[in-house]
Amino acid sequence: MNLFDVYPINNIAITKAKGTYVWDDKGEQYLDLYGGHAVISIGHTHPHWVKRIEEQLNKIAFYSNSIKIPLQQELATKLGKVSGKEDYQLFLCNSGAEANENALKLASFHNGRKKIIAFNKAFHGRTSLAVSVTDNKNYIAPVNETDNVIFLPFNDEAALEACFKKQGDEISSVIIEGIQGVGGINIAENSFLKKIRSLCNEYGAVYIADSVQCGYGRSGKFFSHDFAGVNADIYSMAKGMGNGFPIGGIIIAPQIKPKHFQLGTTFGGNHLACAAALAVLEVMEEEKLMGNAVMMGKYLREELEQIEGLQNVRGRGLMIGFDVSDEIKDLKKNLLLNQKIFTGEAKPNVIRLLPSLGLKKRDAEHFIEAVKEEIGLMQKA
Ligand SMILES: Cc1ncc(COP(=O)(O)O)c(C=O)c1O
Repeated sequence: MNLFDVYPINNIAITKAKGTYVWDDKGEQYLDLYGGHAVISIGHTHPHWVKRIEEQLNKIAFYSNSIKIPLQQELATKLGKVSGKEDYQLFLCNSGAEANENALKLASFHNGRKKIIAFNKAFHGRTSLAVSVTDNKNYIAPVNETDNVIFLPFNDEAALEACFKKQGDEISSVIIEGIQGVGGINIAENSFLKKIRSLCNEYGAVYIADSVQCGYGRSGKFFSHDFAGVNADIYSMAKGMGNGFPIGGIIIAPQIKPKHFQLGTTFGGNHLACAAALAVLEVMEEEKLMGNAVMMGKYLREELEQIEGLQNVRGRGLMIGFDVSDEIKDLKKNLLLNQKIFTGEAKPNVIRLLPSLGLKKRDAEHFIEAVKEEIGLMQKA
Protein backbone atom coordinates (compact mmCIF):
# COMPACT_ATOMS: atom_id res chain seq x y z
CA MET A 1 0.00 0.00 0.00
CA ASN A 2 1.20 3.53 -0.75
CA LEU A 3 0.51 6.69 1.18
CA PHE A 4 -2.26 8.92 -0.11
CA ASP A 5 -0.15 11.63 -1.70
CA VAL A 6 -1.66 14.90 -0.47
CA TYR A 7 1.45 16.53 1.00
CA PRO A 8 4.23 18.10 -1.09
CA ILE A 9 7.06 17.04 1.23
CA ASN A 10 10.75 17.83 1.75
CA ASN A 11 12.87 14.76 1.19
CA ILE A 12 14.10 14.72 4.78
CA ALA A 13 13.33 12.14 7.47
CA ILE A 14 13.65 13.60 10.95
CA THR A 15 14.48 10.96 13.52
CA LYS A 16 15.54 12.95 16.59
CA ALA A 17 14.68 16.31 18.11
CA LYS A 18 15.69 18.36 21.13
CA GLY A 19 14.72 21.93 22.02
CA THR A 20 14.95 24.01 18.83
CA TYR A 21 16.99 21.39 16.95
CA VAL A 22 16.11 18.34 14.89
CA TRP A 23 18.32 15.69 13.27
CA ASP A 24 17.71 13.65 10.14
CA ASP A 25 18.39 9.94 9.60
CA LYS A 26 21.90 10.76 8.38
CA GLY A 27 22.73 12.63 11.58
CA GLU A 28 22.52 16.10 9.99
CA GLN A 29 21.45 18.80 12.47
CA TYR A 30 18.84 21.45 11.60
CA LEU A 31 17.68 24.58 13.40
CA ASP A 32 13.89 24.41 13.57
CA LEU A 33 12.20 27.81 13.22
CA TYR A 34 9.04 26.19 11.86
CA GLY A 35 8.17 24.08 14.90
CA GLY A 36 6.30 21.54 12.77
CA HIS A 37 3.84 24.32 11.88
CA ALA A 38 3.65 26.27 15.16
CA VAL A 39 3.16 23.10 17.19
CA ILE A 40 6.39 22.97 19.19
CA SER A 41 5.72 25.49 21.94
CA ILE A 42 8.09 24.50 24.76
CA GLY A 43 10.76 22.79 22.66
CA HIS A 44 11.07 19.32 21.16
CA THR A 45 11.20 16.46 23.69
CA HIS A 46 11.32 18.83 26.66
CA PRO A 47 12.39 16.68 29.66
CA HIS A 48 9.46 17.74 31.85
CA TRP A 49 6.99 16.98 29.06
CA VAL A 50 8.59 13.58 28.40
CA LYS A 51 8.54 12.74 32.12
CA ARG A 52 4.88 13.79 32.56
CA ILE A 53 3.78 11.69 29.58
CA GLU A 54 5.96 8.73 30.55
CA GLU A 55 4.62 8.68 34.11
CA GLN A 56 1.05 8.94 32.86
CA LEU A 57 1.58 6.21 30.28
CA ASN A 58 2.54 3.84 33.06
CA LYS A 59 -0.66 4.67 34.99
CA ILE A 60 -3.41 4.91 32.37
CA ALA A 61 -3.34 6.34 28.83
CA PHE A 62 -7.02 6.43 27.94
CA TYR A 63 -10.49 6.03 29.18
CA SER A 64 -13.61 7.53 27.66
CA ASN A 65 -15.51 10.60 28.85
CA SER A 66 -18.05 8.39 30.61
CA ILE A 67 -15.99 8.52 33.80
CA LYS A 68 -14.36 11.24 35.89
CA ILE A 69 -10.94 12.27 34.58
CA PRO A 70 -9.47 14.51 37.30
CA LEU A 71 -6.60 15.52 34.99
CA GLN A 72 -9.17 17.39 32.87
CA GLN A 73 -10.15 19.60 35.81
CA GLU A 74 -6.49 20.05 36.70
CA LEU A 75 -5.87 21.22 33.14
CA ALA A 76 -8.92 23.53 33.16
CA THR A 77 -7.79 25.15 36.41
CA LYS A 78 -4.21 25.61 35.18
CA LEU A 79 -5.34 26.91 31.78
CA GLY A 80 -7.68 29.39 33.48
CA LYS A 81 -4.81 30.66 35.61
CA VAL A 82 -2.21 30.95 32.84
CA SER A 83 -4.62 32.45 30.28
CA GLY A 84 -6.37 34.73 32.78
CA LYS A 85 -9.79 33.39 31.70
CA GLU A 86 -10.59 31.71 35.00
CA ASP A 87 -14.37 31.91 34.70
CA TYR A 88 -14.44 30.16 31.28
CA GLN A 89 -15.37 26.48 30.75
CA LEU A 90 -13.16 23.97 28.93
CA PHE A 91 -14.20 21.41 26.31
CA LEU A 92 -11.41 19.16 25.05
CA CYS A 93 -10.98 17.61 21.62
CA ASN A 94 -8.10 16.52 19.38
CA SER A 95 -7.22 19.14 16.76
CA GLY A 96 -7.64 22.72 15.64
CA ALA A 97 -10.27 21.96 13.03
CA GLU A 98 -12.27 20.02 15.56
CA ALA A 99 -11.97 22.89 18.05
CA ASN A 100 -13.38 25.35 15.50
CA GLU A 101 -16.05 22.88 14.41
CA ASN A 102 -17.23 22.63 18.02
CA ALA A 103 -17.02 26.40 18.54
CA LEU A 104 -19.17 27.15 15.49
CA LYS A 105 -21.64 24.43 16.35
CA LEU A 106 -21.90 25.53 19.98
CA ALA A 107 -22.51 29.14 18.92
CA SER A 108 -25.35 27.95 16.71
CA PHE A 109 -26.86 25.84 19.50
CA HIS A 110 -26.56 28.85 21.79
CA ASN A 111 -28.40 31.43 19.69
CA GLY A 112 -30.32 29.16 17.32
CA ARG A 113 -28.94 30.93 14.24
CA LYS A 114 -27.17 29.73 11.09
CA LYS A 115 -25.04 32.46 9.51
CA ILE A 116 -21.34 32.81 10.17
CA ILE A 117 -19.06 35.73 9.32
CA ALA A 118 -15.50 34.80 8.35
CA PHE A 119 -12.76 36.83 6.67
CA ASN A 120 -10.70 36.88 3.52
CA LYS A 121 -7.55 34.72 3.73
CA ALA A 122 -8.86 32.94 6.83
CA PHE A 123 -7.80 29.36 7.56
CA HIS A 124 -9.76 27.47 10.18
CA GLY A 125 -9.19 23.78 9.33
CA ARG A 126 -10.40 20.92 7.15
CA THR A 127 -13.51 19.49 8.79
CA SER A 128 -16.88 20.35 7.35
CA LEU A 129 -17.81 23.64 9.03
CA ALA A 130 -14.21 24.66 9.66
CA VAL A 131 -13.39 24.34 5.99
CA SER A 132 -16.52 26.19 4.94
CA VAL A 133 -15.25 29.25 6.87
CA THR A 134 -11.79 28.83 5.30
CA ASP A 135 -11.13 31.19 2.43
CA ASN A 136 -9.68 28.73 -0.07
CA LYS A 137 -11.95 27.22 -2.71
CA ASN A 138 -9.50 24.35 -3.31
CA TYR A 139 -10.13 22.95 0.15
CA ILE A 140 -13.93 23.11 -0.01
CA ALA A 141 -15.53 19.97 -1.47
CA PRO A 142 -18.99 20.29 -3.01
CA VAL A 143 -20.45 18.59 0.05
CA ASN A 144 -19.00 21.35 2.27
CA GLU A 145 -20.50 24.20 0.26
CA THR A 146 -23.01 26.27 2.20
CA ASP A 147 -24.83 29.59 1.95
CA ASN A 148 -24.43 30.09 5.66
CA VAL A 149 -20.97 31.66 5.47
CA ILE A 150 -20.38 35.31 4.65
CA PHE A 151 -16.79 36.28 3.82
CA LEU A 152 -15.85 39.89 4.52
CA PRO A 153 -12.60 41.79 3.99
CA PHE A 154 -10.15 41.47 6.90
CA ASN A 155 -9.87 44.56 9.13
CA ASP A 156 -12.69 46.37 7.31
CA GLU A 157 -14.91 47.83 10.04
CA ALA A 158 -17.34 49.48 7.62
CA ALA A 159 -18.02 46.21 5.77
CA LEU A 160 -18.57 44.40 9.06
CA GLU A 161 -20.94 47.07 10.33
CA ALA A 162 -22.89 47.08 7.06
CA CYS A 163 -23.26 43.30 7.18
CA PHE A 164 -24.61 43.36 10.74
CA LYS A 165 -26.95 46.20 9.87
CA LYS A 166 -28.36 44.18 6.97
CA GLN A 167 -28.72 40.76 8.62
CA GLY A 168 -27.48 41.03 12.20
CA ASP A 169 -30.44 39.04 13.54
CA GLU A 170 -29.34 36.02 11.50
CA ILE A 171 -25.66 36.06 12.45
CA SER A 172 -24.75 33.19 14.78
CA SER A 173 -21.03 33.86 15.07
CA VAL A 174 -17.99 35.73 13.84
CA ILE A 175 -14.80 33.68 13.61
CA ILE A 176 -11.42 35.34 13.30
CA GLU A 177 -7.75 34.54 13.85
CA GLY A 178 -6.00 37.14 16.01
CA ILE A 179 -3.10 36.85 13.60
CA GLN A 180 -3.82 35.05 10.34
CA GLY A 181 -1.27 32.27 9.96
CA VAL A 182 -1.80 30.40 6.70
CA GLY A 183 -3.04 33.70 5.22
CA GLY A 184 0.47 35.14 5.65
CA ILE A 185 0.83 36.65 9.18
CA ASN A 186 -1.80 39.37 9.03
CA ILE A 187 -2.59 41.00 12.35
CA ALA A 188 -6.22 41.73 13.22
CA GLU A 189 -6.26 45.35 14.31
CA ASN A 190 -7.26 46.05 17.90
CA SER A 191 -10.03 48.40 16.77
CA PHE A 192 -11.39 45.68 14.46
CA LEU A 193 -11.56 43.12 17.27
CA LYS A 194 -13.23 45.72 19.48
CA LYS A 195 -15.77 46.35 16.72
CA ILE A 196 -16.48 42.61 16.46
CA ARG A 197 -17.01 42.52 20.23
CA SER A 198 -19.44 45.43 20.26
CA LEU A 199 -21.42 44.23 17.22
CA CYS A 200 -21.68 40.71 18.65
CA ASN A 201 -22.98 42.23 21.90
CA GLU A 202 -25.46 44.42 20.07
CA TYR A 203 -26.85 41.64 17.84
CA GLY A 204 -26.49 38.57 20.09
CA ALA A 205 -23.80 36.91 17.97
CA VAL A 206 -20.92 34.82 19.34
CA TYR A 207 -17.34 36.08 18.93
CA ILE A 208 -15.06 33.10 18.22
CA ALA A 209 -11.33 33.75 18.56
CA ASP A 210 -9.46 31.14 16.53
CA SER A 211 -6.28 30.88 18.56
CA VAL A 212 -5.10 27.58 17.11
CA GLN A 213 -1.96 29.09 15.62
CA CYS A 214 -1.67 32.55 17.22
CA GLY A 215 -2.66 31.42 20.73
CA TYR A 216 -0.99 29.59 23.58
CA GLY A 217 1.55 32.31 24.26
CA ARG A 218 3.02 32.50 20.76
CA SER A 219 2.23 36.21 20.36
CA GLY A 220 3.70 37.09 23.76
CA LYS A 221 0.22 37.23 25.30
CA PHE A 222 -1.67 34.01 25.97
CA PHE A 223 -4.20 34.81 23.24
CA SER A 224 -3.21 37.29 20.54
CA HIS A 225 -6.81 38.57 20.76
CA ASP A 226 -5.85 39.87 24.23
CA PHE A 227 -3.96 42.76 22.60
CA ALA A 228 -7.34 44.33 21.82
CA GLY A 229 -8.37 44.32 25.48
CA VAL A 230 -11.67 42.55 24.86
CA ASN A 231 -12.82 39.02 25.64
CA ALA A 232 -14.10 36.64 23.00
CA ASP A 233 -16.99 34.28 23.83
CA ILE A 234 -15.12 31.19 22.65
CA TYR A 235 -11.39 30.66 22.09
CA SER A 236 -10.28 27.66 20.05
CA MET A 237 -6.83 26.18 20.53
CA ALA A 238 -4.66 23.22 19.53
CA LYS A 239 -1.11 23.17 18.03
CA GLY A 240 1.12 24.43 20.88
CA MET A 241 -1.29 23.09 23.49
CA GLY A 242 0.33 19.64 23.54
CA ASN A 243 3.78 20.50 22.12
CA GLY A 244 3.22 17.76 19.54
CA PHE A 245 0.89 15.52 21.48
CA PRO A 246 -2.46 15.83 19.67
CA ILE A 247 -4.91 17.84 21.76
CA GLY A 248 -7.28 20.70 21.04
CA GLY A 249 -9.95 22.52 22.94
CA ILE A 250 -12.29 25.43 23.26
CA ILE A 251 -12.79 27.64 26.26
CA ILE A 252 -16.28 29.00 26.60
CA ALA A 253 -17.50 32.14 28.38
CA PRO A 254 -19.78 31.61 31.39
CA GLN A 255 -22.96 32.92 29.73
CA ILE A 256 -22.92 29.96 27.30
CA LYS A 257 -24.39 27.07 29.25
CA PRO A 258 -23.62 23.38 28.64
CA LYS A 259 -26.26 20.79 27.81
CA HIS A 260 -25.61 17.07 28.04
CA PHE A 261 -24.76 15.40 24.69
CA GLN A 262 -24.56 18.66 22.73
CA LEU A 263 -20.83 18.16 22.21
CA GLY A 264 -18.82 14.99 22.57
CA THR A 265 -15.77 13.01 21.50
CA THR A 266 -14.18 9.64 22.16
CA PHE A 267 -10.54 10.63 22.41
CA GLY A 268 -10.82 14.29 23.48
CA GLY A 269 -9.39 14.97 26.93
CA ASN A 270 -7.83 11.54 27.40
CA HIS A 271 -5.40 11.05 30.28
CA LEU A 272 -2.28 11.13 28.17
CA ALA A 273 -3.26 14.26 26.26
CA CYS A 274 -4.09 16.08 29.51
CA ALA A 275 -0.73 15.13 30.98
CA ALA A 276 1.03 16.52 27.89
CA ALA A 277 -1.00 19.74 28.00
CA LEU A 278 -0.36 20.21 31.72
CA ALA A 279 3.36 19.77 31.15
CA VAL A 280 3.25 22.50 28.49
CA LEU A 281 1.59 25.01 30.82
CA GLU A 282 3.93 24.12 33.68
CA VAL A 283 6.99 24.71 31.52
CA MET A 284 5.52 27.91 30.05
CA GLU A 285 5.17 29.30 33.57
CA GLU A 286 8.42 27.92 34.97
CA GLU A 287 10.56 29.13 32.06
CA LYS A 288 8.60 32.36 31.47
CA LEU A 289 8.25 31.47 27.81
CA MET A 290 5.76 34.23 26.92
CA GLY A 291 8.29 36.82 28.08
CA ASN A 292 10.95 35.09 26.01
CA ALA A 293 8.64 35.15 22.98
CA VAL A 294 8.25 38.92 23.37
CA MET A 295 12.03 39.47 23.65
CA MET A 296 13.14 37.11 20.91
CA GLY A 297 10.35 38.27 18.62
CA LYS A 298 11.39 41.91 19.04
CA TYR A 299 15.03 41.04 18.36
CA LEU A 300 14.19 39.04 15.22
CA ARG A 301 11.84 41.65 13.78
CA GLU A 302 14.29 44.51 14.39
CA GLU A 303 17.12 42.60 12.74
CA LEU A 304 15.01 41.40 9.81
CA GLU A 305 13.77 44.94 9.15
CA GLN A 306 17.33 46.00 8.43
CA ILE A 307 18.00 43.33 5.82
CA GLU A 308 17.70 44.52 2.26
CA GLY A 309 15.39 42.42 0.10
CA LEU A 310 13.02 41.58 2.95
CA GLN A 311 9.79 43.57 3.08
CA ASN A 312 6.87 44.07 5.45
CA VAL A 313 8.41 42.39 8.47
CA ARG A 314 5.44 41.81 10.76
CA GLY A 315 3.98 39.73 13.55
CA ARG A 316 3.88 39.52 17.31
CA GLY A 317 6.10 37.54 19.63
CA LEU A 318 7.36 34.45 17.86
CA MET A 319 4.79 34.52 15.09
CA ILE A 320 6.67 36.46 12.44
CA GLY A 321 6.28 36.91 8.71
CA PHE A 322 8.08 38.82 6.00
CA ASP A 323 7.84 39.08 2.23
CA VAL A 324 10.74 38.12 -0.01
CA SER A 325 11.27 39.90 -3.30
CA ASP A 326 11.39 37.99 -6.57
CA GLU A 327 15.17 38.26 -6.76
CA ILE A 328 15.53 36.18 -3.58
CA LYS A 329 12.47 33.98 -3.93
CA ASP A 330 14.56 30.86 -3.21
CA LEU A 331 15.50 32.08 0.26
CA LYS A 332 13.40 29.52 2.14
CA LYS A 333 14.69 26.63 0.02
CA ASN A 334 18.31 27.78 0.33
CA LEU A 335 18.05 28.26 4.08
CA LEU A 336 17.04 24.63 4.33
CA LEU A 337 19.52 23.22 1.80
CA ASN A 338 22.61 25.26 2.62
CA GLN A 339 22.09 26.46 6.18
CA LYS A 340 20.05 23.55 7.53
CA ILE A 341 17.35 25.84 8.88
CA PHE A 342 13.65 25.03 8.72
CA THR A 343 11.29 27.98 8.22
CA GLY A 344 7.61 28.12 7.29
CA GLU A 345 5.98 29.79 4.32
CA ALA A 346 2.73 31.29 3.12
CA LYS A 347 2.05 31.44 -0.58
CA PRO A 348 3.12 33.21 -2.69
CA ASN A 349 6.15 34.94 -1.14
CA VAL A 350 5.96 35.00 2.65
CA ILE A 351 8.42 33.34 5.01
CA ARG A 352 6.90 32.48 8.38
CA LEU A 353 8.81 31.94 11.60
CA LEU A 354 7.02 29.82 14.20
CA PRO A 355 9.77 28.48 16.47
CA SER A 356 9.62 27.11 19.98
CA LEU A 357 8.80 29.87 22.49
CA GLY A 358 12.05 28.96 24.22
CA LEU A 359 14.16 30.12 21.25
CA LYS A 360 17.62 31.15 22.41
CA LYS A 361 19.35 34.39 21.44
CA ARG A 362 22.31 32.56 19.89
CA ASP A 363 19.97 30.63 17.60
CA ALA A 364 18.14 33.80 16.59
CA GLU A 365 21.49 35.44 15.84
CA HIS A 366 22.60 32.43 13.84
CA PHE A 367 19.41 32.65 11.77
CA ILE A 368 19.93 36.35 11.01
CA GLU A 369 23.51 35.70 9.88
CA ALA A 370 22.33 32.79 7.71
CA VAL A 371 19.66 34.95 6.05
CA LYS A 372 22.21 37.66 5.26
CA GLU A 373 24.64 35.12 3.83
CA GLU A 374 22.03 33.45 1.60
CA ILE A 375 20.68 36.76 0.33
CA GLY A 376 24.25 37.87 -0.41
CA LEU A 377 24.88 34.71 -2.42
CA MET A 378 21.63 35.06 -4.40
CA GLN A 379 22.33 38.70 -5.20
CA LYS A 380 25.82 37.83 -6.49
CA ALA A 381 24.57 35.01 -8.69
C1 LIG B 1 -5.67 29.30 12.58
C2 LIG B 1 -5.86 27.82 12.39
N1 LIG B 1 -7.03 27.27 12.72
C3 LIG B 1 -7.24 25.95 12.58
C4 LIG B 1 -6.26 25.12 12.10
C5 LIG B 1 -6.52 23.65 11.94
O1 LIG B 1 -5.84 22.92 12.89
P1 LIG B 1 -5.61 21.35 12.73
O2 LIG B 1 -4.67 21.16 11.58
O3 LIG B 1 -5.04 20.92 14.06
O4 LIG B 1 -6.93 20.75 12.48
C6 LIG B 1 -5.01 25.66 11.73
C7 LIG B 1 -3.95 24.80 11.18
O5 LIG B 1 -3.00 25.23 10.57
C8 LIG B 1 -4.81 27.06 11.89
O6 LIG B 1 -3.65 27.63 11.54
